[in-house]
Amino acid sequence: MDNALTMSNRDVAVLVLAAGKGTRLKSSLAKVLHQAGGRPLIEHVVRACAPLHAKKIIAVIGHQAEQVSAAIEHLDAATVLQQPQNGTGHALLVSRRAIGNARFVLVLPGDAPLIRPETLRALLQKHKTGSAAATILTAVLADPSGYGRVLRKSGDTVAAIIEESHLAPEQRELNEINSSIYCFTAAKLWPALSDVKPDNKHREIYLTDAISVLNSKGETVLAEIAADPREALGCNTRADLAGVDRTFREWKRDQLMRDGVTIRLPETVLIDPDVTAGEDTILEPAVQLLGKTKIGARCTIRTGSVLHDMILGDDVLVEPHCVLTQSRIESEVVIGPFARLRPESHLLKGARVGNFVEIKKSTIGEGSKAPHLSYIGDAKVGSKSNIGAGTITCNYDGFAKHPTTIGNRVFVGSDSVLVAPLKIGDGAYIAAGSVITENVPPDALGIGRGRQSNKPGWASKKRRELSVTSAHSHKKKPPKKRR
Ligand code: UD1
Ligand code: MG
Repeated sequence: MDNALTMSNRDVAVLVLAAGKGTRLKSSLAKVLHQAGGRPLIEHVVRACAPLHAKKIIAVIGHQAEQVSAAIEHLDAATVLQQPQNGTGHALLVSRRAIGNARFVLVLPGDAPLIRPETLRALLQKHKTGSAAATILTAVLADPSGYGRVLRKSGDTVAAIIEESHLAPEQRELNEINSSIYCFTAAKLWPALSDVKPDNKHREIYLTDAISVLNSKGETVLAEIAADPREALGCNTRADLAGVDRTFREWKRDQLMRDGVTIRLPETVLIDPDVTAGEDTILEPAVQLLGKTKIGARCTIRTGSVLHDMILGDDVLVEPHCVLTQSRIESEVVIGPFARLRPESHLLKGARVGNFVEIKKSTIGEGSKAPHLSYIGDAKVGSKSNIGAGTITCNYDGFAKHPTTIGNRVFVGSDSVLVAPLKIGDGAYIAAGSVITENVPPDALGIGRGRQSNKPGWASKKRRELSVTSAHSHKKKPPKKRR
């Protein structure tokens, strides 16, 4: 096995820098809480570090500390408060006690979320085998603007990192950038940092300046070039966020396609990281699969549908433009077009839900159908029942929600209003256009509407009356007599 994979990292403390505000985003939300690829930036970074099995992971927090800490609470990371935020070097100084006696410190910025565990492993490997004081993860970018640049000393070693604002004219050509991901040997790091002065217009202590200090002390500083330069990208602006989000989405779609999912016009399909889908499932253009959505095999999700925290069995067909949320759909269901499932709904095997049907907190039994224009809320429908077009459950009386229970093989005629609480027994019929306010026993007909009466000849009589009136009003004036 590869050395980098077997190497233990119990001598490494990971430090994620996440205390800054992110002024360039122009946002009331701290930068590391902004989302890309369906997660806050900080969560991506901490997750990328977890497989290293380091001694500990520490996040340096400051701006909106409580929310940042909550975003990574589930990931087993400690936190250190940096208040005020006097620069990336200062962030390390305030973390010294938390880092303790770890031999190595792996530093990552909380705003570079595309980093992958393999790349971090390679960086640690290079640092340890090269006996360096510091090893920097770098990337060569076509457009390096905005980043600190790496000034090489020899082929493999680094003299300094120069922030963009400090670049001399001839250094503007440098296109190898500092990712802000570094490995330091702790014993060399602390003395170097104590020599760093806040020599910049923000009066901050820059971690980047520790590199030239180490170099001037004769220490070795190495650089590892990231194989995929996108892993080094930081998010300082909204445009950076959009670019990084695009890459995450592409990676996720590629993963699903490798797993046997067909995606038409993939660049239009948005999939969150925890989503899964089975073999031979087809995703049409402009589909969104969000949250923890899980889709079975051989399903088709047609264009414009948005699924959030949904669970689908096999062979489900979601027709275009459905909005489905926090519900469960069993195998062989057909739903849509233009259907909406609100939370806690459950469509059993082979059910059909058609256009302009809204279902909330309800179960639709096996093989039952609600094909057109219905609202079904707080209801339980048995198997093989038919809910006619325009049926509405009145589940709310202005104070409380009430349940509707519809049995097996029930036929609800079109345009019926079912006033809950209500029970309709197995095999019952509801006459079309009924307002049903009382329970209907099994196999009974429930009918609740005004009785129709026909008045023979009424229409032709009415027409005659109307034509007489209109003839009067259009009568021509008599012609004037000639003299
Ligand atoms: C930094 C590097 C730059 C590098 C770039 C890569 C410095 C001085 N510059 O610039 O060389 O090319 O990252 O993305 O380090 N933070 C704190 N406490 C602070 C200041 C910042 O925790 O006092 C955190 C921020 O929340 C952020 C990270 O450190 O997550 C980096 O800070 P940021 O302001 O984004 O630095 P850059 O200007 O991007
Ligand atoms: Mg940054």
